[in-house]
Amino acid sequence: MEVKRKIILCLLIAITMGCYRIEGRDPTLHRVGGGRYTWSPKVNFTKWASHEHFYKGDWLYFGFDKRIYNVLEVNKTNYENCIDTGFIENITRGGRDVFQLLEARHYYFICGRGFCSQGMKLLIDVKEPTTTLPPPILPNKALLNRLSNTLMLVVTILAWIFI
Ligand SMILES: *[C@@H]1O[C@H](CO)[C@@H](O)[C@H](O)[C@H]1NC(C)=O
Ligand SMILES: *[C@@H]1O[C@H](CO)[C@@H](O)[C@H](O)[C@H]1NC(C)=O
Ligand SMILES: *[C@@H]1O[C@H](CO)[C@@H](O)[C@H](O)[C@H]1NC(C)=O
Repeated sequence: MEVKRKIILCLLIAITMGCYRIEGRDPTLHRVGGGRYTWSPKVNFTKWASHEHFYKGDWLYFGFDKRIYNVLEVNKTNYENCIDTGFIENITRGGRDVFQLLEARHYYFICGRGFCSQGMKLLIDVKEPTTTLPPPILPNKALLNRLSNTLMLVVTILAWIFI
């Protein structure tokens, strides 16, 4: 049983590392707010984000109590006005949730249920990685999307095990 679990874990890591190389750079997992359970009203996320560098392919990790908080990707307007309806994507799963930044653009996240106006809002500026390596040979978009879904599952599992 234990050995089986270890083998599965090793396989997952191997798959993850394999996928990483496609991006041409090792993606970083950013723990939002800096800790295990720091998607909370006490944190200044603008300050936190200003000390981080986000590149395409990186991951965000949100740790929180899902009975109280949630994580929603919203557009700029709704981020600025703390509107939690008409969101783009509900990131909330089990409270240790990951999200991959797949594009070089601005991403906006808020917590609903009134917590956004208490400071639970996050703006992420994702940059194109600057690399001197030759551009990686990318598989087609459908395959990439499938891969990204698998990767999300893997990272979620790893987050639950290790963080
Ligand atoms: C959060 O930090 C930023 C940058 O350090 C600062 O400008 C802002 O006033 C802070 N916000 C709050 C609510 O303290
Ligand atoms: C943001 O989303 C809201 C709700 O879906 C929508 O009404 C608004 O027009 C959007 N704003 C922009 C700038 O896309
Ligand atoms: C977001 O998803 C979670 C988990 O699937 C669900 O419990 C919650 O109700 C959803 N929140 C919104 C605002 O849709």
